[in-house]
Amino acid sequence: MSEGDRLAELAKRRGFFNQTAAAYGGVAGFYTYGPQGAALKDNIEAAWRDRYVTREGHMEIDAPTVLPEPVFEASGHVETFTDMLVECANCGESHRADHLVEDHPDSTVEDAEALPNEEVGELIAEYSIDCPDCGTALAEEPVEDFNLMFETNIGPGSSSPGYLRPETAQGIFVDFPQWAEYARNQLPFGVAQIGKAYRNEISPRKSIIRVREFAQAELEHFVDPEDEPPLERVEDVEIPLYSVSQQQSDGGVEEMTVREAVDNGVVDSEWLAYYLGISKAWYERIGVDMDRFRYRQHLSGELSHYASECWDAESELGGDWVELTGFATRGTYDLDKHAEYTGEDFSVFQQYDEPVTVERPTVDPEMSYLGPEFGNAAGDIVDELEALAERDPDAFDGETVTVEADGGSYEVPTEKTGFAVEEVTEAGEHVTPHIIEPSFGVGRLIYTSLAHSYREDEIDGEERTRLALPPEVAPTTVGVFPLMDKDGLGERARELASDLRAAGLEVTYDDSGAIGRRYRRQDEVGTPFCVTVDYDTLDEETVTVRERDSTDQVRVPVADLPETLASLRDG
Ligand code: GAP
Repeated sequence: MSEGDRLAELAKRRGFFNQTAAAYGGVAGFYTYGPQGAALKDNIEAAWRDRYVTREGHMEIDAPTVLPEPVFEASGHVETFTDMLVECANCGESHRADHLVEDHPDSTVEDAEALPNEEVGELIAEYSIDCPDCGTALAEEPVEDFNLMFETNIGPGSSSPGYLRPETAQGIFVDFPQWAEYARNQLPFGVAQIGKAYRNEISPRKSIIRVREFAQAELEHFVDPEDEPPLERVEDVEIPLYSVSQQQSDGGVEEMTVREAVDNGVVDSEWLAYYLGISKAWYERIGVDMDRFRYRQHLSGELSHYASECWDAESELGGDWVELTGFATRGTYDLDKHAEYTGEDFSVFQQYDEPVTVERPTVDPEMSYLGPEFGNAAGDIVDELEALAERDPDAFDGETVTVEADGGSYEVPTEKTGFAVEEVTEAGEHVTPHIIEPSFGVGRLIYTSLAHSYREDEIDGEERTRLALPPEVAPTTVGVFPLMDKDGLGERARELASDLRAAGLEVTYDDSGAIGRRYRRQDEVGTPFCVTVDYDTLDEETVTVRERDSTDQVRVPVADLPETLASLRDG
């Protein structure tokens, strides 16, 4: 069985995740998290919140999943949030054209998405690629752009179209003026959000790895371009980098410290380097195997429409590298676009320590006198002169100023322009922050944490499957068993389970079957500790605590149990 098949089987049987609405034949790209999966998801999200919100001092919000069309026109998603589609003329099934090319055995193309549609079409013909569903040749079919957003109407009728958000980020950007005010216009500040995002993927695949509805945990960190990150906190952290040049030379991953990555110009943005540095330990914390992990830089054709630099955290799953997180510099792109579309102020006003007096060149339309020789163009010429005074005040140094306006070129005597240099006192300046974005896909973190912690071993001659999940994220912290459900052992164990729950621990009570089988059940869902109530418990108020990976057992006083387990869980 492949790693993927083994995991899918365990996930379904043990309540991690399953395809939604199986009774209706299932619906591609939608998965439901069962009790174990939902608990694991909660724990991973809590660990994310702890690291990226609480410890970094950022704020967390919760925005709607539906936003009106103009938001996504401004953000560029209506025009550019597309994938390459090729449709089979015979069976009507749609496929990701770039994936068909990448997956073909003769193909050397690693990133077909970065190529123009026509070239991908030519490669489909060159490799004689057939429809994976019915075997018909796809060579003649056009490769087209398919927009991935789910469209809807807000309210009755169709006058107010909207979209399910394809990234949680836009809910943060559209209300930036609100967050800036809340942060008292003090840069840098970060706004985080954990929530659902929706993409109408052409070919959802690989279980919960590529789905149509998924949770993202995103941080939008708004920084002054002059601000520097606290790089000293992570500068000695070694990070595995697969840069563009290493990819082009087939050089493999290079390990270097965050400081070296910045000093050698491998990672351009110090802020991105900072986040790559702090994130490595976080991935380990949730169970990602560092021998199956790397940061890969985006090739230039791969960058999203808004990004100037991007590194993906990737994990190796079943022989393939899968993107867990995109770390991108979005510059001022989103805030500029929302300002342009709304006419509102999407900058922060940064107050100077002391007011400063500056010279400001202006053209006062009241003072400009353009005689009849300029005819109907006079109005346009004055507008241009105003813009020119701001853009290039030196243009007013000579006797005349040359202005392109109303389709012509005009020489305007400088004395008639109304140009003056005023002295003004300014209290501060407007700055449009640059955005640094770490964007995590929660489902892929869950999948990796499960796949990388999957183990098969032998205990006392018997095979067992176990998930070596870190105790912090394991869905259940402790299994509580009575040795047998008789002589008051059952009651004592149930009472203990209830006390441990009241102490904030995730507890499963189990009294069915032999004790060995109960251990195996907990091993399979990654429960790090099991507590057994036996006759000594009744006599001397102690229990055995068994650790999942070593299977070592120790006796612990019942009174110490909540504290001992909580500290083992929290490390
Ligand atoms: N705001 C930036 C953004 O959305 P992205 O790289 O398109 O960037 C971020 O998505 C993360 O969301 C990815 O790294 C991945 O983990 C997750 N993701 C994206 N598409 C997904 C899908 N169809 N199914 C599951 N997770 C997905």
